[in-house]
Amino acid sequence: MQGVRAIVIAVGAFASMSMQARAEHETVAGPWGELKDHVSPLVLKDEAARDTHYRRHLMRTLSGHLRAIEAVLRYDADYAGALKVHARGISDLSHLVPAPFAQPSPADAGRPGAKPALWANADKFQAHAAGFQKAAAALGDLPALEGANIEAWRASFTLVRHECLACHQQFRTFAPQR
Ligand code: HEC
Repeated sequence: MQGVRAIVIAVGAFASMSMQARAEHETVAGPWGELKDHVSPLVLKDEAARDTHYRRHLMRTLSGHLRAIEAVLRYDADYAGALKVHARGISDLSHLVPAPFAQPSPADAGRPGAKPALWANADKFQAHAAGFQKAAAALGDLPALEGANIEAWRASFTLVRHECLACHQQFRTFAPQR
């Protein structure tokens, strides 16, 4: 109905760190009607929670680009023409990485997320961010893929992946593997 903002109560809220989902769903009005958003709105209670929420989405976006490139280079998905977009995405986003880690905001003990070591070794974290930006810039600057330069793409991709893993090994606690 026009102008009516229905709130649908949903079961199953989740809580992580100081982020909490309200157990409700919003509707979003537009040309396709009043549509339910299945992602519940969050309550982010402080700056640390807001930084953590933002940087996790930044990381997931990086991961999406990385896995899309991997789909082409490693698993032969037929989208060579899309590689430059994903590579430039990683290169552009790499410059956003250190900022949302500026304020101490580690995950609760034993929870997945950023380790306290990140803030105890801030110089090392910055060095990892810089190394990542360099590898990402090289990937973003590659000429479009054509059969002949696939090895250059694979090598550059591997260097970026290495930088992701190196920083994670130092500063990220992983969720248990399923
Ligand atoms: C300079 C360090 C650094 C670099 C480089 C880095 N990450 Fe991360 N990443 C982190 C840290 C720290 C976390 C934990 C953040 C948190 O939960 O607060 C994280 C978390 C993640 C997550 C989990 C996000 C979530 O929803 O909880 C993914 C996925 C991820 N990174 C992917 C990547 C990929 C892919 C790359 C490379 C293209 C990359 N990261 C590069 C430090 C880094």
